[in-house]
Parts: sequence; structure tokens; C-alpha cells
Amino acid sequence: MKRFGLIGHPLGHSMSPLIHTRIMAMAGIAGTYELFDIAPSRVQDAVPRLMRELDGFNCTIPHKETLAAMVAPAQAFGAVNTVFRGAGYNTDILGFRTCGIKLAGKNVLLLGAGGTARMMAHECRRAGAKTLTICARDAARADGLNACVVSYEHAFDATLQPDVILNSTPLGMWPNAWNMPCAAALLRPGIDVFDAIYNPCPTRLVLNAQKHGGRATGGLRMLVRQAIEAQRIWNPETAFDTAAIERALLPELFVEILRHSPLHILLTGFMGAGKTSVARQLSKRLNLACVDIDHEIETHCGCSIAHLFKRAGEAEFRRIERDLAQRVLTRGESSVVAAGGGLVISKENQKMIRETNTLVLNLDAPFDILWERVAGCPNRPLLQDAGQARELHAARRSLYLDFCDANFDACGTPADAIHARLTHAGN
Ligand code: S3P
Repeated sequence: MKRFGLIGHPLGHSMSPLIHTRIMAMAGIAGTYELFDIAPSRVQDAVPRLMRELDGFNCTIPHKETLAAMVAPAQAFGAVNTVFRGAGYNTDILGFRTCGIKLAGKNVLLLGAGGTARMMAHECRRAGAKTLTICARDAARADGLNACVVSYEHAFDATLQPDVILNSTPLGMWPNAWNMPCAAALLRPGIDVFDAIYNPCPTRLVLNAQKHGGRATGGLRMLVRQAIEAQRIWNPETAFDTAAIERALLPELFVEILRHSPLHILLTGFMGAGKTSVARQLSKRLNLACVDIDHEIETHCGCSIAHLFKRAGEAEFRRIERDLAQRVLTRGESSVVAAGGGLVISKENQKMIRETNTLVLNLDAPFDILWERVAGCPNRPLLQDAGQARELHAARRSLYLDFCDANFDACGTPADAIHARLTHAGN
């Protein structure tokens, strides 16, 4: 039985044991993967011992640089994340490289100037990027990276026209999943985006890049790939099928991340788009709680939506809807949530939703198809007149499209499409 592991401090919730166990099982390697939480003051003693006792190990924050000085730097770029027989490697860079972002001849915008950014800047130079612009809060950190360094505000001014955006900052990382590291206006058709964040996966940046016609890859893929590359180094005699490992692992990791980091997947769209039934199907497939905000309102008020409109008026309905939606979207358990069609229309509600860990997915369809589905439904007080309903749909459709992080065709099989997009983020 081979023994591998990870050193770092603190280790918190590391996904590496799960990832490595699965990779070893798929590749037929008999091995274990353990966590070693080692404080900086003990690294000098611990590393020689681990080198003797283990068949190889990974290293994470804050030891990557320390380790680079302690082992033979085979392929380390100043930061070691993999050790094998006394030599240090950096498989983060291999993981990033094998994600296949085309950098040659491109104008690259790199967000951030920390350790991951240094690795990415190195890779941009190696691959022959045309220009490299780094947005950094602290310009001094980008010293020596051979790039044009600008202040971070530039990430939010739409005058830059990069071909590629690489995010190495924590902007958009759980528990601030609503955040974006750059202006949405930079996300033009054809752009290539890589986001090193893997929680949530996908991030709003990844979804929004795809929504605007770009390609986007999330950090979960890099995480899996750096682990495969470490296993390759430790087990040079073994063949690894990267595509098969990803197919099996990405959906499993997606669910695992949602289990410990509450995130809400809010389905929006016009009446009849199928929000409730898609939410049900999706929640089953992802093994998540399913909440229907209209249903919450009816339970809370003890009457139907139609009755509430009649009894208290639309304004009162909206107030109750906002309160309950806020409660649902701040629950400490991940869920798939079906919104009522009017929830995301007001600016106030949009702001409230953006302050929670919520990804907004829209189900879009032309009016005639929706009308066929819902005409005459007694519990939809806003659908009693075809002309008015058509106008309402026309007024709302672009609001839905603007506000959502991803848009799906409500006429196809949206639950399948959403599942595929979320669990293989960045394909
Ligand atoms: C509404 C949509 C309904 C319900 C209420 C108001 C709207 O939900 O919340 O009748 O303003 O679009 P569905 O979209 O689930 O039908």
C-alpha cells in the first residue's frame, strides 16, 4: 500500500483526500492519502521525516515557498506543491496548462498578483502571450513579472479589451459568491476566461463569460488536474485517463462543495417557464433541498396566491414575497429555489438577491409557448388577459436576461442542460 498526503496549515476542509482516493481507485493504485496539519515552525523537522515515510506528498499554503528551498527544484517555479524522492514540482502550473487556455498571441488580463498570479504570469510568458496586463491592489507584488501593472480599478473599466481574462483573486469565492472580479462589460463574445476559484463551481464570472458568448473554465478542473499530475509524478508506471477521471469526479466534487458551502440555485423566468418542475428535477439529481417561493408564500399566508392578491393586493404580496425569498436565500443549507416570475424584476429584490450566495439561472421561452402552457390557470392573477400577459412578458424578458448568470431554453430539456453546465463547469 503506497502512502501519500498533504501538508499545510491550516488545512481546513481539504478536498484532496477525496480527489486522490478517487483518482487512485480509477487508475488501479493501492494507496492512501492523509492530511498533515503542520505549523510553519515545525516544517523543517517534519519534511525530512515525511520524505522518508511517504511515497510522495503535496504541499499547500503557507509552505509552498519554504519547501522550494528545501528540496531539489525539479520543476517548481519558486513554489513547490508536489514532492517525490527529494525533488520538488509544481503541478498547479501543469494543471493550469492542461486546461488548455490559449495564450499565444493573446492580450491577457491577469487579475491579482499573489502566488497563483505568478504562476499564471510565468505561463503567459512561456506560451507567448502578446501582452500581459496585471490588475493589482498592491503593484509591488507584481514586480519582476514582466507585465504592464495597473491599479485594480481598471478591472472595472470597460475600456480594456482583453482576449483572455485570468482570475487569481478570491473575488467571487464562497461565502461571497455574488462578487465578480471584473466588469461584466469585459466579457465579450469569443473571450476566454479562466477562474482559479473552485468554490463555488462555477463562479458567477464563469457563468457570465459563457452567457456573453465566451469560453470559461473554472478552478475545479485545475484542482483535479494538478492532482492527476501529482499522481503521474508519484506513479510514473501508471496510465491516467484524464477525461474519464473528470467525468466521474467533477459532478461528485460539485455536490460535495455544495454540501459544506451553502449556495442557492435560483430559477427564474416568466410564468409557465417550468421553474417549479425544473427545480424539483434538479434538486433530486443534485440531492439538494427544493424550495418553491410561491408555495412558501401560500403556506405562510394560509391561502392561495390568487386569494392573497384579491384579499391584500399585489403590493402586499410583493412585500411578503421579498421577505420569504430573503429568508430562503440565506438558509444555511444549499438548495434549488423556484422563484415566482415577478421576484427578480424590482431593483430592490435584485440587490437583496445579490447580497446572498445565489446563482441566478433563467428559463427563457417565447410568449406563445408559455401562453399555451398557462392560459386559463386560475391561480395566476396576472394572467387573466392575453394582451396584458404578452405585454408583461415583453417588458420582463430583457430584465430576466440581464439579471441572470446563465440563460437556458425552457422549451428543451432545461434540467439536463443546467445539470451538465453546473457539474462540468467550463467545458
Ligand atoms: C407572478 C408569478 C407567479 C406568482 C404570482 C406573481 C409574477 O409565479 O408568484 O402570480 O409576477 O410573474 P409563477 O411564475 O411560478 O407562475
